[in-house]
Amino acid sequence: MNNTIELNNISYKYPKGRKVFDNFSLNLKNGETTVLTGKNGSGKTTLTKLIMGILKPSFGEVKVFGQSTASLSLGSIGEMVGYVFQYPERQLFSTSVVEELTFPLLFKGYNKEETMDKAEEMLEIFDLGKVKNSYPLFLSYGEKRRLAIASVLMIGPKYLILDEPTASLDKERIDALSEVLDKLKKINIGMLIISHNKDFIERHKDKVLALEGVNYE
Ligand SMILES: Nc1ncnc2c1ncn2[C@@H]1O[C@H](COP(=O)(O)OP(=O)(O)OP(=O)(O)O)[C@@H](O)[C@H]1O
Ligand SMILES: [Mg+2]
Repeated sequence: MNNTIELNNISYKYPKGRKVFDNFSLNLKNGETTVLTGKNGSGKTTLTKLIMGILKPSFGEVKVFGQSTASLSLGSIGEMVGYVFQYPERQLFSTSVVEELTFPLLFKGYNKEETMDKAEEMLEIFDLGKVKNSYPLFLSYGEKRRLAIASVLMIGPKYLILDEPTASLDKERIDALSEVLDKLKKINIGMLIISHNKDFIERHKDKVLALEGVNYE
């Protein structure tokens, strides 16, 4: 199986909004990095939520690693596909940075020592050591974003979706993030990255996909 994610002839309309996709198809391949661009409101975030099963297509089918998302729980999709939200505070729920990183794995019964070692590694990579005992919602915007990415990587997803990952990061942090993504790419983790940052796109793209948006009400 070569396709990690397939969208087959999907249509989507928000219950109280407009049609965002009309008979849209897309294949994302194993190990490949696709950059998704398109103007504000063209449907980039909606597309990622359809892949994650957070939204269900009105028509058509979404498949993740060969399985239709209609028959998968949000939890099992989330184990295969790591998703970093456009607004990272929406995915932070713990009372400390360390707990944010370790809770999901400890909850599943993973070994405590190994989980702590992995968390320490993430704190180091994402330069969060100084705030490891802080309350996540009080972090700076850049710190929240780095924490959201780190906590998704803790789970060890096979594919990664990043919605505007460089927003609110300074150049040094973007470089650090780029190095992490390069490492993931080396171990064949495919990625869908929504970005408007030209240098970042150039560095990571295998393919660029520009969403046009549906043009009628
Ligand atoms: N919950 C919602 N209910 C109704 N309409 C929505 C909802 N969320 C998004 N939309 C609409 O769907 C369209 C696509 O939105 P989406 O957030 O996917 O765009 P985007 O490409 O991610 O934009 P941006 O670049 O601003 O992040 C927009 O017209 C938006 O107004
Ligand atoms: Mg968006």
